Amino acid sequence: MGLKEIKKQANEELEKITNSDELENFRLKYLGRSGELTAVLRSLKDLPINQRKKVGQEANQLRVELEEKLGQKNKFSTADTKNDKNSKLDISAPGIKIEQGHLHPLTQILEEIEEIFQSMGFNVIEGPEIETEYYNFDALNVPKEHPARDMQDTFWLKSDNQKLLLRTHTSPMQIRHMEKNKPPFRIIVPGRCFRYEATDVSHSHTFYQMEGLMIDKNINVANFKAIIAEFFKKLFSKEVEIRLRPSYFPFVEPGFEIDIKMKGKWLEVMGAGMVHPNVLKAAGHDPREWQGFAFGVGLDRMAMIKYGIDDIRLFYNGDLRFLKQF
Ligand code: FA5
Repeated sequence: MGLKEIKKQANEELEKITNSDELENFRLKYLGRSGELTAVLRSLKDLPINQRKKVGQEANQLRVELEEKLGQKNKFSTADTKNDKNSKLDISAPGIKIEQGHLHPLTQILEEIEEIFQSMGFNVIEGPEIETEYYNFDALNVPKEHPARDMQDTFWLKSDNQKLLLRTHTSPMQIRHMEKNKPPFRIIVPGRCFRYEATDVSHSHTFYQMEGLMIDKNINVANFKAIIAEFFKKLFSKEVEIRLRPSYFPFVEPGFEIDIKMKGKWLEVMGAGMVHPNVLKAAGHDPREWQGFAFGVGLDRMAMIKYGIDDIRLFYNGDLRFLKQF
């Protein structure tokens, strides 16, 4: 086919093109490797020199022209694919909803609790999940052969020099913070804890605690009661009945277990007490000068009460039917 014929025929065919398959066939027929126009361009070398330039120019011009038209058609045809039966893209089809994730219920309650304590002047700090025996036990007035160590069954890690473990509570951060900071201070320390114990509806081997520590001059149990009364009131958006029962933790004296009354039932929610003089000493402070209280609240238990959940394991099994309810 001569150039003129190609031009005429190609333009006629272009007019009739309605979908992307036809468009592609057209491209192959004229501009593809064995296309009509490509054949002309290839045969240029066989032409006498004087014709070569002229035909070459014309052929290239036509190539540019066809490519341009093809491009325009292409835009048009992708925008109009709903008329195009062979196209895989149907722009008139309803879109697929992109699902947005959200925060885990434990993270939600943690953020809420952090805000409550921050409004009362507490700073939020965090600490390591892998702890040394010293911070998790010794410095907290729990000596090696003391039976109190068995209160918290421990996951020990294989390590060479110092004995490492997965922290059984957030209390080691009392020591770490006091070692590095001069009182007065108020801190909360949320974090994951681990205990080597069988799981049931209210116990998990992995769970969250939040430690609280307030050290100053002249701090007493009444200050502690006032702070946690305010905390529970804000968290549950109502006045909550609280009871302190005497209890034993080696790192406090006196020590308490705190219960709150919910739907007529007393529920145990935190351990607390006045920081033991030995603990202040271990962290380098004079217990005659500084005192304060510490507490450790189970965050999972808080979330269970607030959201009415009866099995702690639901927080950890990743079941979306559960998680999507929050
Ligand atoms: C302690 O861990 C102390 N460190 C708390 C403390 C801090 C006392 C400061 C005094 C001063 P206890 O073992 O009771 O105490 O745990 C505190 C809370 O953590 C419990 O009330 C409970 O809410 C939560 N908790 C403990 N073990 C588990 C578990 N296996 N699963 C879920 N929550 C747990």
